[in-house]
Amino acid sequence: MKIVPFDKGHAEDALCLVNLLRAAPITLSEFIAREARWPVDDLRLCWLRYEDDRAVAYGQIASSPYAPADHLAVQIAVDPDYRGCGRGRSMFDLLEREAIGRGFRGLVSTLPEAASHPQAWAEARGFHRHALHSDSLLDLQTFDGKAEVSAEVSLTDMTGANEMQWREVATLLQKLIADAPDMRDLPPWTMARCLTVLRETPAARPEWVIVARSHGSPVGLTVGHSMGNEIYSYFTGVLPDWRGKHVGLALKLRLIAAARAQGITTMRTTNLDTNMPALRLNASIGFRRVPGSLELRKTLYSGAAATPVKPQ
Ligand SMILES: CC(C)(COP(=O)(O)OP(=O)(O)OC[C@H]1O[C@@H](n2cnc3c(N)ncnc32)[C@H](O)[C@@H]1OP(=O)(O)O)[C@@H](O)C(=O)NCCC(=O)NCCS
Repeated sequence: MKIVPFDKGHAEDALCLVNLLRAAPITLSEFIAREARWPVDDLRLCWLRYEDDRAVAYGQIASSPYAPADHLAVQIAVDPDYRGCGRGRSMFDLLEREAIGRGFRGLVSTLPEAASHPQAWAEARGFHRHALHSDSLLDLQTFDGKAEVSAEVSLTDMTGANEMQWREVATLLQKLIADAPDMRDLPPWTMARCLTVLRETPAARPEWVIVARSHGSPVGLTVGHSMGNEIYSYFTGVLPDWRGKHVGLALKLRLIAAARAQGITTMRTTNLDTNMPALRLNASIGFRRVPGSLELRKTLYSGAAATPVKPQ
């Protein structure tokens, strides 16, 4: 048995295990492309456990925009043929020691809402339930095409936008994201991250970034990402003074129309299950709830292990 830090040469082995954690598997070329896009300044440590030249467990700790600054997001996958014999536990022990050794105060794990066994496994390791992120789907084929609502704003997408316009919208996203209940206790987003979400990630589409303006000033936006055959309604936000005036609804309806125009049949979205304004807005459009994900957190105590381990 050996545990080795992950590097490019292990991509194929890692992919088989990483795909166990994904709702939809990705290909090797997509995996390699994602590896290349990982921001160089973001901390990420990954290991693979080999037994008789077979990769049987994968573990990763990484900083994440969805984790507090002093927490790391953790992922562990064990080959189904090798489960139930302590491989997951020993990988977790390694990740935990590494996180503590680097001065982190906690870990975040995000698991499918319906995955009761992994949840029980994590809870037995000291994680507690922190938040439920519910997913909702809208069938764009049967959507009744609700008439566009009249909100006292103009709506435009970002097709053909220049650098100054992208920066203006990124500034609005930065402000709105900071105000979303999902982001409470999370670090503020940098302009670079906002521009990545709006424009640079391969999932972004300028025609799916829709901005609401009043007398030229942006007051709200919605962002859709391409996710296979679906559109993922990534974020919708409206400045506080403009809430409750159907701006959010108008933005979402325009995004739905833009997606339908491209033949997309399903819109997916995720909301914190306590974010009532967002949930009610989606319910009013006709989204139906499907299983989402559970976020668990664990507080780390430096007494548990103080020195980083050196995997052989
Ligand atoms: C969620 C959000 C975008 C809604 O935008 P909005 O412009 O205020 O919403 P609308 O005025 O278009 O509301 C449309 C419908 O949604 C529901 N709704 C929206 N806000 C609501 C609230 N605070 N309480 C109850 N229902 C609400 C209502 O059904 C409403 O229709 P009605 O007024 O005819 O009853 C806005 O609250 C916001 O920016 N929140 C912070 C960012 C955020 O959390 N985004 C979601 C994460 S992706």
